[in-house]
Amino acid sequence: MPDVPFLELRDAVRSFRTTTGQELPVLRGVSLTVHSGTSHAVLGRSGSGKSTLMALLGLLDQLDAGTYRVNGQDVHSLRDRDLSAFRGEFFGFVYQRFFLMPHLTALQNVELALVHASRAGRRQRRQSALEALDRLGLADRAHHRPAQLSGGEQQRTAIARALALVPRVVLADEPTGALDEKTAEDTVSWLLSLCREQDIALVVVTHDPQVAARMDATHHLVEGQWAP
Ligand SMILES: Nc1ncnc2c1ncn2[C@@H]1O[C@H](COP(=O)(O)OP(=O)(O)O)[C@@H](O)[C@H]1O
Ligand SMILES: [Mg+2]
Repeated sequence: MPDVPFLELRDAVRSFRTTTGQELPVLRGVSLTVHSGTSHAVLGRSGSGKSTLMALLGLLDQLDAGTYRVNGQDVHSLRDRDLSAFRGEFFGFVYQRFFLMPHLTALQNVELALVHASRAGRRQRRQSALEALDRLGLADRAHHRPAQLSGGEQQRTAIARALALVPRVVLADEPTGALDEKTAEDTVSWLLSLCREQDIALVVVTHDPQVAARMDATHHLVEGQWAP
């Protein structure tokens, strides 16, 4: 089994219609193979299609053409219900804006994700959430609300939320875009080491060459295609 990639995107094509009705080709034949436990950086100018690619990888959008296999299964053959099950079981998401609920504590934010995605009872959820925060060095921040956390701590809380269910892959779209350079580096270190430890694959969109250099592979998108 180790030779079967966890994600296998082949010749992905995705277009959108502009408001004037024109067809806007955003991804024009993109392939990406991601094995368990490997890390990938996706670089490219604004508008090059990075977020569109991430949405496809995370089963939040569908290809116009091409194929996509997740865990060996062609996602085209999955129904909506199976798609959401796959998304919940296999994927963790991290975004530039942390998307934490402002009125909930760090702990409650992580627990909330577990309510939606697991059948574990309340006590077990709390335990898993605390462990996830602890792994991100946030044990003593568990009862702080987002406004009482620094930007880096907020993003680490969001990472704890993404990792709490131990996904097979984390998709991070500009996770350090709102952080200063030093905090960005720390945050990526947490993300990278926790993913490696648990054999979780990682795909990170970034503008930061230092962040990209730390991944196993880097890929440059130029107008919807990989740069040669
Ligand atoms: N849902 C959509 N409808 C129409 N156009 C879209 C949609 N999503 C993205 N686009 C367009 O696709 C292009 C690439 O967007 P995106 O993937 O967000 O780029 P990036 O993340 O690299 O900045 C942009 O021109 C954007 O306006
Ligand atoms: Mg984007």
